[in-house]
Amino acid sequence: MQRFIKTFKDYEQFYKESIENPESFWESIAKEFYWRENWEKVLEWEFHTPNVQWFVNGKCNLSENCLDRHLENKANQIALIWESNDPKVASKIMTYQELYVQVCKFSNVLKSLGIKKGDRICIYMPMSLEVVIAMLACTRIGAIHSVVFAGFSAASLADRINDAECSLLITADGFHRGEKYISLKSIADDASYICPSIQKTIVLKHSNTEISWKSSKDLWWHELMQNVSENCQPEPMDSEDPLFILYTSGSTGKPKGVLHTTGGYMVYVGYTFKNVFQYEEGDIFWCTADVGWITGHSYLVYGPLLNGATTVLFEGIPTYPDHGRFWDVIDKHKVNILYTAPTAIRALEQFGNEIFKTKDLSSLKVLGTVGEPINEDAWQWYYENVGKKRCPITDTWWQTETGGILIAPIPGVTPLKPAFATLPLPGIQPVLLDEKGNEIHGNDVEGNLCIKFPWPSMARTVYRNHERFKQTYFSTYPNYYFTGDGAKRDKEGYYRIIGRVDDVINVSGHRIGTGELEDVINMHSAVVESAVVGYPHDIKGQGIYAFVVCVGPVDEEALVREIQTLIIEKIGVFSKLDKLQVVKGLPKTRSGKIMRRILRKIAEGDTTNLGDTSTLLDPSIVDLIKTEAK
Ligand code: PRX
Repeated sequence: MQRFIKTFKDYEQFYKESIENPESFWESIAKEFYWRENWEKVLEWEFHTPNVQWFVNGKCNLSENCLDRHLENKANQIALIWESNDPKVASKIMTYQELYVQVCKFSNVLKSLGIKKGDRICIYMPMSLEVVIAMLACTRIGAIHSVVFAGFSAASLADRINDAECSLLITADGFHRGEKYISLKSIADDASYICPSIQKTIVLKHSNTEISWKSSKDLWWHELMQNVSENCQPEPMDSEDPLFILYTSGSTGKPKGVLHTTGGYMVYVGYTFKNVFQYEEGDIFWCTADVGWITGHSYLVYGPLLNGATTVLFEGIPTYPDHGRFWDVIDKHKVNILYTAPTAIRALEQFGNEIFKTKDLSSLKVLGTVGEPINEDAWQWYYENVGKKRCPITDTWWQTETGGILIAPIPGVTPLKPAFATLPLPGIQPVLLDEKGNEIHGNDVEGNLCIKFPWPSMARTVYRNHERFKQTYFSTYPNYYFTGDGAKRDKEGYYRIIGRVDDVINVSGHRIGTGELEDVINMHSAVVESAVVGYPHDIKGQGIYAFVVCVGPVDEEALVREIQTLIIEKIGVFSKLDKLQVVKGLPKTRSGKIMRRILRKIAEGDTTNLGDTSTLLDPSIVDLIKTEAK
């Protein structure tokens, strides 16, 4: 690949080039991919509206670049390895040729159901080979996929389907995750019931369990795949044609449908996969994220397949059937590159190091982390025990909206510093801004992290709500993309991400909007109002602390139980509260704004250092909350 970074000098040279002449830099990389028609212009942009277009008027197809392009040389190479939740169930593999055939067939199935370019398709599936087939088939015919994490509730699924007006839902009978069984089809049915746009549901037989069936709507995957042609020409897509929608939580309101487009996403994700993981031909790559999140989209599916790599899909969890499962999977499949989340590392660290005596991790070359700040202790443990001090760790910072990794060390190239995402990748121009919007120059500084120049895989809009896109990302600081994160730049110019500066909390790498949670808590009939904040949690990174005001005396135990049930129903089990405190009132300013800063301090257990409380309407409330803190 062009501009593949092998030394620190390469990095410096490519970075310089990408800043001085971004268009020729990205053009040289884009040429590595297969285009039906060349672009007329590399980049057009302004951050006011905002309007960003890459590879303008170019035509390409992502599935063609992930599959057809490799058939000449790699038809028999393994593209996907599937590892079941149950270690006794045999793994499955699929070569590039087999995947190509399955994708073509499923594309023809979609077409036979009347799906065409631009239609939205909701994918609500377990980690399976078929979820990848479904995603690639959508991109092959130009349909826009909206993958919803299979841990979301029926209500959350319905919200997402309705927002994008999906006409087709692809799901499965059910699946096991650790000890738990998730009856996906019945959740999908509950959602579909309130989604008038859904015309058909395709159901994959995965767990072989009994399910309810509606003959007017439901179709079996395996029946549809019989007698279908194995040929399907890829739809030539404009670079800026929508590729997929992925919902993510923000400070306020319902989750946003972040929209990514075709050409730029392909180029950036393909380039960063190769560089950030120092991928070499034949490497086995394992990203432990679920396909329902952006990490799964970009670095479990598209990045590896664009590079003709072998990518592992794991259906289970790190602690089932025991805490050695990750290490067994690495040993079994001879994984070379492991990409996981700090929360998984911390969860496994608590079991100690004895387990490593019986596990062979010698295949590993590179380790990665993503999703939340990694603390130094977890970094060291990962480095010493998993990587045996041989494997560099790439701490990758990015977001659903950025499409690909923006700040990360290049393994074996960038000198490492524990807990630092280190330096921006080529093409990325991060800046730190103060509250007034001034750029903070120099090193050894801290501020709000923004990006001042476009990169190919940045989100283009919020689906059908461009104004919200502008307001959320381009209005806090005009002419900058605002990430919502705070960061430090140390003496050497290395970045360390501190965490969100807005009302989003990051629990086990899951982004949770506090406003969304409050809306659900407030649905409880005894609740008048509530405020949710994050607090440091040893394993999850952040825990969820809710302060709740009730109408009268309540049975607290019952209240907690009922609110947890509501949250599971409305959002999903991963958003359950860690702590709930019933309070007489919330600390509010005279204008009625909740002072979350104070609640955060109390949740952290720091009650001596609450700062200025003089602007509160009723400062005595704070003392009351403090004394009853959990
Ligand atoms: O706060 C940052 C944190 O996760 C947020 C993005 O979440 P999401 O869109 O769900 O995407 C997660 C996977 C890319 C960011 O705003 N975050 C992500 N990676 C890191 C991180 N925080 C610190 N260090 C990271 N490496």
